[in-house]
Amino acid sequence: METTPSPNPTPLQSLEEWEDFVKDRYPEPGKPAATAFQATDPNKKEEEFRNYEKEARPTVREFYRLNHLHQTHEFGQAKRREFLSLKRREMGIWEAMEYLNQLVDDSDPDTDLSQLQHLLQTAEQIRRDGHPRWFILTGLVHDLGKILCLWGEPQWAVVGDTFPTGCAYSGKIVFPKFFEQNPDFKNPSLMSANGVYEPGCGLDGVQLSWGHDEYIYNVCKDYLPMSGLYMLRYHSFYPWHRESEYSHLLNAQDRENLKWVQAFNPYDLYTKSHQAPDVKALRPFYEELIAEYFPAKIRW
Ligand SMILES: [Fe+2]
Ligand SMILES: [Fe+2]
Repeated sequence: METTPSPNPTPLQSLEEWEDFVKDRYPEPGKPAATAFQATDPNKKEEEFRNYEKEARPTVREFYRLNHLHQTHEFGQAKRREFLSLKRREMGIWEAMEYLNQLVDDSDPDTDLSQLQHLLQTAEQIRRDGHPRWFILTGLVHDLGKILCLWGEPQWAVVGDTFPTGCAYSGKIVFPKFFEQNPDFKNPSLMSANGVYEPGCGLDGVQLSWGHDEYIYNVCKDYLPMSGLYMLRYHSFYPWHRESEYSHLLNAQDRENLKWVQAFNPYDLYTKSHQAPDVKALRPFYEELIAEYFPAKIRW
């Protein structure tokens, strides 16, 4: 007797599988793509962009199918109500880094780094490049929103390139065909260029698909400068910071802060090395830096 396999709610072997796919789409200038796609031009044409889709691992494709299917405007509102009252626990930043580190990914040949090590590598490269202390600290905390995974949230509601909901999807979002299965797609009031928004309203008033960026932004919003908060909130918003889409929704503050989001992105994408940072040796420096900006415990 044949049975249809039930869809896998966690198609990715590890969250890094999504990040590796993003890195293949946006390889480091001057370096070939690591795994999935070799011929790359920064001015890539539409059909070349589509090649990333063809070459994607089946797990990555399934991940995007679920993400585009389930991330409705209403879903994003419900998740904000569920998580942004920050009533789950109180933890300091270092404690949250150790807590996130329980998230053990299955074996992925491309990475052998823990979440904590990715945060430290990102921050350390920002520090080596001589950036201000708030920038280093932003690198340290940028992925702490992935603790949503530890609270039972599915991969497609934690990671993935983010995009505005409540208005037309940009054709530059990867796997745009999968949006046809999203219930919002059949609602014309949510599918016009501006949708539920006023032109030029600014990204603060635009609801992006739900994930780790929006969550960590809300956790940190009283403590970091605006430039750092932009990095946290929009680091996965590739349709904006890499594809220059959605300009009709931006305001002057967004246009001013785009440069910070773009300055951050290479540290996130290109600093992964297999050389594990010395956590014990680095901890005193980072504990001091954390204490400059954050109280001992914050709400999550
Ligand atoms: Fe991230
Ligand atoms: Fe990251």
